[in-house]
Amino acid sequence: MIMQYYLTMLVCVLLLLTGCDNNSSPQVDAHIPTNSSAPVLRSGMDVALGQLIQRQQLTGDPLKGRELPAIGAPLAQLGMQLFFSKTLSGNLDVACASCHHPLLGGGDNLSLSIGVDAEDPDVLGHKRLLQGNRSPGVPRNAPTTFNIGLWQHFMFHDGRVEKTSSGIHTPDVAYPDTDPNAGGNLVQAQARFPVTSNHEMRGESFDAGGTPQSCREPLAERLGGYGKTGTPLEARESARWLAAFREAYGKPDAAASELITEQNISAALAEYERSQVFLNNPWKSYVEGKLDAISSQAKQGALLFFRNHDEGGFACASCHSGDFFTDEQFRNVLMPPIGPGNGKPDKDAQQDYGRWQVTGKPEDKFRFRTPTLLNVEVTGPWGHNGAYTSLGNMVEHMLNPFQSALHYNTAQLKQPNIQTGQYQQNLREMLGENTDIAGHSYKQEDVQNLVAFLQTLTDPCVTSQICMSKWIPPEDHGRQDSQGLQLNARFAP
Ligand code: HEC
Ligand code: HEC
Repeated sequence: MIMQYYLTMLVCVLLLLTGCDNNSSPQVDAHIPTNSSAPVLRSGMDVALGQLIQRQQLTGDPLKGRELPAIGAPLAQLGMQLFFSKTLSGNLDVACASCHHPLLGGGDNLSLSIGVDAEDPDVLGHKRLLQGNRSPGVPRNAPTTFNIGLWQHFMFHDGRVEKTSSGIHTPDVAYPDTDPNAGGNLVQAQARFPVTSNHEMRGESFDAGGTPQSCREPLAERLGGYGKTGTPLEARESARWLAAFREAYGKPDAAASELITEQNISAALAEYERSQVFLNNPWKSYVEGKLDAISSQAKQGALLFFRNHDEGGFACASCHSGDFFTDEQFRNVLMPPIGPGNGKPDKDAQQDYGRWQVTGKPEDKFRFRTPTLLNVEVTGPWGHNGAYTSLGNMVEHMLNPFQSALHYNTAQLKQPNIQTGQYQQNLREMLGENTDIAGHSYKQEDVQNLVAFLQTLTDPCVTSQICMSKWIPPEDHGRQDSQGLQLNARFAP
């Protein structure tokens, strides 16, 4: 006991932690079940972190009783087939999984996504290239679909799909009206949009010049082999989909035109996506009382993350708050302006005005949604346009955004031909607006500690091919898939 006491005091003195006081005898954590092996000594760092965890009201469990579907549920299974099928794209060449693959952190490992016109549509990862070595047309980084069912208010980097007390707003209606066709939840509302985007899935020729809705309906008709949409699938393929929809919706006799609708397609996609719950990370175990679940370096990083500036920390949790590590608010944090930009209001500007494009409010210029940090280790490149290709560089940006944007090194971009020509002028324009974050001086050690902390937010399932296989349809599905329209991704080494 005496030894332990001196050990604790030594740790306290070394770390100069405020949480250690003179009568702190070694504490054994109360949450540890009595049948667990040797109790773990609570260090000064644990005491300080315990106080911060309390102050932030963290439980480690962002689900908080919310019910999300299991991957085995019939609708989620149908959604998985759809998510991996190229039939939802105009030219039968892109699936949702082309940009949101479970083995790539629910994203695509690219700074800026490549949908239509890929050199080889089945190649994913950093070797996925556009035909003719063109510059990317998709202006933003594909966010992860992992834990997507936990967002309460917004989808997309600019929140253009939004849930309010009166319903769900989407880009199909004027802001902030609600869209009567949005579907039952935010994820379904979002799932109706990628198929309407020329660069992502539609291409230039399918339903050319149409509206979003005039694109969704023929896609559904083509899948179900009804209606008069051109280039129909083989009858065998449509029959297979009809059987799958009948089973998932429990309507064995329903006709294709009744079952294979854009609403039922997006509802199934959403159930599959919402089943991607990956929360069992070491940090959660730590918050629940398993003191040795994370390293002491990660604990140092956590202290920096949660402490305020006057306590020697960086107050990251002032925006990345709660167990989901986001306040779902929009901020201008000076992300380096790379890529083609969003085309509004000037398509040649290569500038992305973020939230402002949705609300038109001047203060929203260059604001983007605070991302969750769960599984952040596997969801790079980082930032709304994938400007940072290492987590360390991304963290350095958050520590001192102005310096980092000013000295941004485009050589870190692994993808060829990303537009950077108007960088300086675009950055100047960004600096002329309100920024929502100040810079701080920091040490390299702080960066390493913060990265070590962020790595504790990774659920081991997401790095295990075996664990993830439940979310990937078996390749031999292809045997029934007569037209080879299931995406069986190839990952370049
Ligand atoms: C070409 C690549 C590409 C394809 C194909 C694609 N997405 Fe995405 N996805 C993106 C990008 C890029 C964004 C971010 C766009 C933005 O915020 O403006 C995004 C955003 C999302 C989001 C919002 C995530 C969040 O955190 O708000 C979800 C969910 C999603 N996609 C699901 C899907 C589904 C379902 C499909 C198929 C119907 C699909 N995506 C097809 C690239 C793609
Ligand atoms: C003022 C609010 C705010 C603070 C404080 C803040 N962040 Fe962020 N963070 C954001 C926003 C907003 C983004 C997304 C910006 C974008 O994409 O344009 C972001 C992006 C990130 C990303 C990239 C995530 C991804 O999926 O691309 C990481 C990692 C990150 N922040 C870590 C941190 C760390 C570590 C700290 C503390 C040193 C911190 N943040 C402080 C708002 C904040």
